[in-house]
Amino acid sequence: MAESNTCANHEAQRAQIQTVYTTLALQPEQAFAWGKGRANARALGYAAPWLDALPESVWESAAAVGNPFALGLLRPGEVVVDIGCGAGADLCIAAQMTGPNGQAIGVDFTPAMIAKSRDNVKRVGLGNVILHQSDIEALPLPDACADVVLSNGSINLAADKTRVFQEIFRVLRPGGRLQFADMVRRAKSDAATPSCDSWADCVAGTLAPERYLELLRMAGFEAVELVAWTGYHTAATTEGATFRALKPA
Ligand SMILES: C[S@@+](CC[C@H](N)C(=O)[O-])C[C@H]1O[C@@H](n2cnc3c(N)ncnc32)[C@H](O)[C@@H]1O
Repeated sequence: MAESNTCANHEAQRAQIQTVYTTLALQPEQAFAWGKGRANARALGYAAPWLDALPESVWESAAAVGNPFALGLLRPGEVVVDIGCGAGADLCIAAQMTGPNGQAIGVDFTPAMIAKSRDNVKRVGLGNVILHQSDIEALPLPDACADVVLSNGSINLAADKTRVFQEIFRVLRPGGRLQFADMVRRAKSDAATPSCDSWADCVAGTLAPERYLELLRMAGFEAVELVAWTGYHTAATTEGATFRALKPA
């Protein structure tokens, strides 16, 4: 069941999302509706070494809405999955944090983003990254394969968030951590329902933060919390937030 998705034409939604993110991948110099790039990541609190060390091709197509690494660092040797990895900024950071004995796995359904991620991973010289072009509602990964799942600005774009959280729960090992940043709805009671045309802009697909916490608990997570507001906006009624949750050990 698609969670609160009154924009019923999923194929049109998907095409709209892929169009927006293909442009961001291939023509990053073009105007993007919201904050992006290295300056945006700096404003969201990414650590200077990551901002300085990764090349412009990594940052130019990055559309972070928060900093998932502020929720906890990754340990050497861990397996980390980035859900909706885009051009690979968080993926490259995760791959460097987990080191040669760890692994970073990126999943995104926009072919141009996966191609750019692959190129960026090569450019940075990382040998511990795997990329999958796939929908995050059906992860092409085995059960209990990951220590950590990350995401940044992507889950709000999925038509069925219930399914996404179930999939994340499935691929995490017992005791595994979910830490993500996403856009949520902070609608005032008199706010108009956003137009379906704004789905790809991270507006129409957003849910209230309480609903996100509820969906996470329904998927089986514990220690579920909204940790911080990020100050990123895609509309007057949306704001970025960071969330943390654990799969019971
Ligand atoms: C706002 S961008 C964020 C990208 C990246 N996490 C970052 O911080 O730069 C959202 C990304 O999610 C991807 N995406 C959206 N819906 C998806 C879905 N259902 N399955 C897989 N990828 C999806 C898009 O292709 C896009 O690359």
